[in-house]
Amino acid sequence: MKKILITGGAGFIGSHVVRMFVSKYPEYQIYNLDCLTYAGNLENLKDIENSSNYVFIKGDIKDSEFILTLFEKHQFSGVIHLAAESHVDRSIANPMEFVLTNVIGTVNLLNAARWIWKENTTDKLFYHVSTDEVYGSLGDDGIFTEETSYDPRSPYSASKASSDHFVRAYYHTYKLPVVLSNCSNNYGPNQFPEKLIPLCINNIINNNPLPVYGKGENIRDWLYVVDHARAIDAIFNKGKIGETYNIGGHNEWKNIDLIRVLCAIMDNKLERDFGTSEKLITFVSDRAGHDLRYAIDATKIKEELGWLPSLQFEEGLVKTVEWYLQNEDWLKNVTSGSYQKYYHKQYTNRQ
Ligand code: NAD
Ligand code: DAU
Repeated sequence: MKKILITGGAGFIGSHVVRMFVSKYPEYQIYNLDCLTYAGNLENLKDIENSSNYVFIKGDIKDSEFILTLFEKHQFSGVIHLAAESHVDRSIANPMEFVLTNVIGTVNLLNAARWIWKENTTDKLFYHVSTDEVYGSLGDDGIFTEETSYDPRSPYSASKASSDHFVRAYYHTYKLPVVLSNCSNNYGPNQFPEKLIPLCINNIINNNPLPVYGKGENIRDWLYVVDHARAIDAIFNKGKIGETYNIGGHNEWKNIDLIRVLCAIMDNKLERDFGTSEKLITFVSDRAGHDLRYAIDATKIKEELGWLPSLQFEEGLVKTVEWYLQNEDWLKNVTSGSYQKYYHKQYTNRQ
């Protein structure tokens, strides 16, 4: 049996990747390593937790000794590394946590793979999951390709860029078999409601203001999370060692336009008069250093690996809204306690 370590598997994207691999590959033993920060939630994996090819390990990638012992014990043949601090606003408030997890945590995993695999790297792969934010911010024109120079501008993207550089350095220096991907904004079920779409869904349900940063003119390129998981599957199983693949939906939306579409879907699903949710839109002070626009050129993954997004955006948004409405307990659980403190600090008196 192939032993695959997936880090951050209790988080948003990680849980969809774990589910896909556990269900699609009974011949893989999947080890989900996650330390369960505020963003990690084993409820995300309730449906597969008893599968015979699935094991959960609670542990921290910042702990180098623990990581090395884990690699020694299980002799993984593949790693899909998603564990990270992932929210830009939190990185602005507390950059060091991002350095420790995203940079040092990644180097701990690279070291363990290097020391345990040694020269014996046939059939081994270290897959690092990264973000389009490492490329910086676009103006009205242009698109990020795999050749675009790095220009990270937030502590989050700087920490992800640094981890990407370490992964490539281990490939060039030690011949560690690596592959990387840089994806655009994901949305879908199980996303923690600190991110724009689930935050707005939760606030509409509770009739709370929808905080739009600046004028709402920033543009993001949105991809349904299961399509990202499908891309990760294609890259892990068919990608070329040493290569980078950009992943994106060719689906750019200004924040304010996206929020208006979301409001209309919510009015419909909650059977409220059309226009009710839009009244909650509130413009607040901008995010510091707010990147204007991201857009991904996903030609390489399409041409080389045959991957394409499967869902249209509105279809994906409706599915997402339906999931949150059908899982109000999940939403209530993750928005109690420390979320309230975070929300208060982030949004109160922000005019
Ligand atoms: P998330 O915040 O929802 O989940 C992160 C997971 O990592 C959580 O389960 C958390 O408990 C775990 N984790 C954090 N620190 C850890 C540590 N020290 N040790 C072990 N586990 C730890 O993040 P996400 O949105 O699912 O993103 C997953 C990955 O994909 C990240 O690397 C992120 O940079 C990348 N990415 C995200 C997006 C997006 O739109 N969300 C887009 C492109 C790339
Ligand atoms: O591009 C990929 C990245 O997308 C990932 O690497 C990150 O992990 C992920 O968090 C996401 O980063 P963003 O900063 O783009 O996502 P967020 O949902 O935080 O914000 C999306 C846009 O909405 C952004 O322009 C900021 C704006 N926004 C966000 C929040 C939370 C608001 O206007 N109001 C808000 O309350």
